[in-house]
Amino acid sequence: MRVGILSGGGDAPGINAVIRAAVRKGILQYKFAMLGIKDGWRGLVEGDFTPLNLTTIRGILPLGGSILGTSRTNPFRHEKGPQRIFQNVKKRHIDAIIVIGGDDTQSVAQKLQAQGLPCVSVPKTIDNDLAGTDYTFGFNTAVSIATDALDRIHTTAEAHRRIMIVEVMGRYTGWIALEAGIAGGADVILIPEQPFEIGEVCEYIKQRKERGRAFSIIVVAEGAKPKGGKEITYGDKVDEFGNIRLGGVAYYLGREIEARTDIETRVVVLGHLQRGGSPTPFDRILATRYGLAAIDLVKQGKFGLMVALKGNDIVSVPLKDVAGKRKRVDRKLYEMATVFFG
Ligand code: F6P
Repeated sequence: MRVGILSGGGDAPGINAVIRAAVRKGILQYKFAMLGIKDGWRGLVEGDFTPLNLTTIRGILPLGGSILGTSRTNPFRHEKGPQRIFQNVKKRHIDAIIVIGGDDTQSVAQKLQAQGLPCVSVPKTIDNDLAGTDYTFGFNTAVSIATDALDRIHTTAEAHRRIMIVEVMGRYTGWIALEAGIAGGADVILIPEQPFEIGEVCEYIKQRKERGRAFSIIVVAEGAKPKGGKEITYGDKVDEFGNIRLGGVAYYLGREIEARTDIETRVVVLGHLQRGGSPTPFDRILATRYGLAAIDLVKQGKFGLMVALKGNDIVSVPLKDVAGKRKRVDRKLYEMATVFFG
């Protein structure tokens, strides 16, 4: 049996740990031949492959990024894209594909699976917004990086008695903002699921000042928007899945809050720092468990499934129940965080 592996969408720390686990068990235990597909769906459309064997996976467990590369290629937006995929799969005698990706990548897997491509999916995104799983790998690393940043921002904010606004990733959901905000002791957390009112944010800051706390830390997800308003975008380019580039909500907030409170305000945008570098031990272990479970499903001939974490167990869920759905921050969880606002 020959198994292809691809990683698509934005990278997330832990992709290489998934690849390592699936390749190792695939070769040593199941005697499979493994094949790397370059840059997500692009490699399958264009027939761009790379060897995957025990030598190529050596030393990759702690590495961020993806040894296979990644892209936001949507085969359905390319001339005869799906057709070329099926031709390449046939030409290279690929019997199954492990698809490591977030919602966009998995939506493509779901469509191709329905057309007869045997796929097993692995949930990946630092945003943690994929339905069907408690956690995607990469999220824990992003939260750790953002929490470390908040700890550092705290000392300088306090010394200068400033408002510091920290923008984190999170296009549609505020998981990173919420968890890093709680862990880092943020004074306000703003997420896409709960549109904000600047007046209310300023109120929290004023309350703090009255209690003798002259500095404040605000964590905002890039996709957060004012009530009745829209997300703040950075340019107008969209990718092949129709995602526009977000960014700048922290600057918008910074200007407004400084004007209304008269407290000096600074902005930090963490951006792709949150996706870079080595995965945390949690993500290395989760990604390893996902990789092993994915190759087990291939061995059992169970396709159209995504491996998932439920409590402490690795399970599998139908991809059709996952693709196109989103796991949003629960209102109750956000309300719990508001206890620490102001
Ligand atoms: O992978 C998800 C994500 O990290 C989003 O939070 C963010 O909006 C997007 O990727 C950024 O993508 P890119 O790497 O294309 O700038």
